[in-house]
Amino acid sequence: MEYKAPRGTRDILPIDTPKWQWVEEKFRKVCKLYDFYEIRTPTFEHTELFTRNLGDLTDVVSKEMYTFETRGDRSLTLRPEGTAPAMRAYCEHNLGDAKPVVKMYYIARLFRYERPQAGRYREHTQLGIEAVGAEDPAMEAEIISLASEFFKSIGIVDYTLKLNSIGCPKCRPGYRQALLDYVGGRVGELCESCAARYEQNPLRMLDCKNPGCKAVLAGAPKLTDYLCEDCKEHFEKVKKYLDALGIAYVLDPNLVRGFDYYTKTAFEFVSGALGAQNAIGGGGRYDNMVEEIGGKHVPSIGFGLGLDRLMLTLESMGIDVPGDTGLDVFVVAMGDKAREYSVKLLRDLRAAGISADGDYTGRSMKAQMKLAGKYNARYALIIGDNEIDAGEAAVKDMAASEQTNVKFEDLVSFLGK
Ligand code: HAM
Repeated sequence: MEYKAPRGTRDILPIDTPKWQWVEEKFRKVCKLYDFYEIRTPTFEHTELFTRNLGDLTDVVSKEMYTFETRGDRSLTLRPEGTAPAMRAYCEHNLGDAKPVVKMYYIARLFRYERPQAGRYREHTQLGIEAVGAEDPAMEAEIISLASEFFKSIGIVDYTLKLNSIGCPKCRPGYRQALLDYVGGRVGELCESCAARYEQNPLRMLDCKNPGCKAVLAGAPKLTDYLCEDCKEHFEKVKKYLDALGIAYVLDPNLVRGFDYYTKTAFEFVSGALGAQNAIGGGGRYDNMVEEIGGKHVPSIGFGLGLDRLMLTLESMGIDVPGDTGLDVFVVAMGDKAREYSVKLLRDLRAAGISADGDYTGRSMKAQMKLAGKYNARYALIIGDNEIDAGEAAVKDMAASEQTNVKFEDLVSFLGK
C-alpha cells in the first residue's frame, strides 16, 4: 500500500470511535452541568492571531506551526491551540455584551509540528474550556472542579494536580531578574535550548527536563516568593477554595506553561500511567489576552485536556470504556420478493429507532446468518418466499438462540421491546 497517514497523525477506526465518543459525551455532560456552552471556531486562523498572542519565542510559534500562504497572499495557520481562536471569536461577536462571564467549551483538533512520540502527535484533540470575564479566584476552583468531576466520570482518579502562580507583568520582571542573577556564570552548564532561553525567555528554563539544567536550577528562587500583593492574595484564595472543595494539589514552583499569555494561576494534571508525555491537561489564567485582541480588560481562565492522552491513560489503566453497543437487527433476506420487502422493512425499523442492517453482497442464507453474528446483532430477522406469503418473519434471538415467528405488522413493537 502506497499511502499512509502522515507522520504524527492517526486514524481512529470505527471499532474505536465509540470509546472516544463516550469520553466526549461525558465531557459535554459535565460542561452542561457547569453552564459551559460549545463554541466551534475555524480550523485555521490568520497567523498573526497566534504570533501576537502566544509569544514569538514559544516553541509552538517559533517552530511548530503549520503556516501557509493563501492564493491571495494572506498567511494562515492551522490552529495549534484553542484559547486564542476562542478569544478572537469572543471579541469579534461581542459575546461579553450578553453575559458578564462567558463560559465556553470546545472539542477541537489542533496541529503542532512536534517530534512524534507516544502521546505526542502532530494532530491532537483537546477538550477545552474558557471562562471569559471572571476575575474571581473562585473560577479557578470551579474549572478545576469541573476537570476533576470529568476525570471521575470516566474512571480516572489517579492523577496529580500541579499548581503554581506565575505572577503578572507587574511582578514577573523582578523575578526574571532574580532568576538571571541566580544562574549568572553557570549559563555554560545549561543545554543549548536553555542557554537561548536564558537570553530570551528565562522562565522556560524552570521546566527543562535536562539533568544538567535541573542541577543548575535546583536552588533557584521561587516565583511565588516574588508575587505582588494582588497576585499573592489571588493565589491564597485559589488554594483556600480548592481546600474547601477537598481538591488535592501539589505546589510546583517550577511549573511554567508553554505560552506567554498566562498570568497568575497556572496548573497541570499529570498522570503516572503515561510515559514522558505525562501531562493530561493544563491551563491557567490569561487576564490580558482579550485586551490585546479586542481592547477591553477581560480577565479569563481556561484549560485544555489532551483527549489522545486521556484515551491512552484509560487504556494503560485497564479501564473498560464502553465500546459499540452493537446492532439491534440484521435482516436475512432470501429471494427477490423478500429482498424487495427488506428494503422497506429496513427503513421502517430505522424510522422506529431500531438499528438495522442487511446483506448487500448476495450471500447465501447461511452466510447471512453468519454475518448477523459478525455484526453483533441482537436479532436476526429471516424472510424468504414462505415468510412473505405468510406475512410474518422468523425472528431469532442471537444470544438465546431461540426463534419465534412474528407477524410483519407486529415486528416493530416486538423488536422495540
Ligand atoms: P497545552 O498545555 O499546550 O495548553 O495543551 C493542553 C494539553 O493538550 C496538554 O496537557 C496535552 O495533554 C495535550 N497536548 C498538547 N500537545 C499535544 C500533542 N502534540 N499531542 C497530544 N496531546 C497534546 C494549551 O493548548 C492551552 N490552550 C490550554 C488552555 C486553555 N489554557 C487556557 N485555556
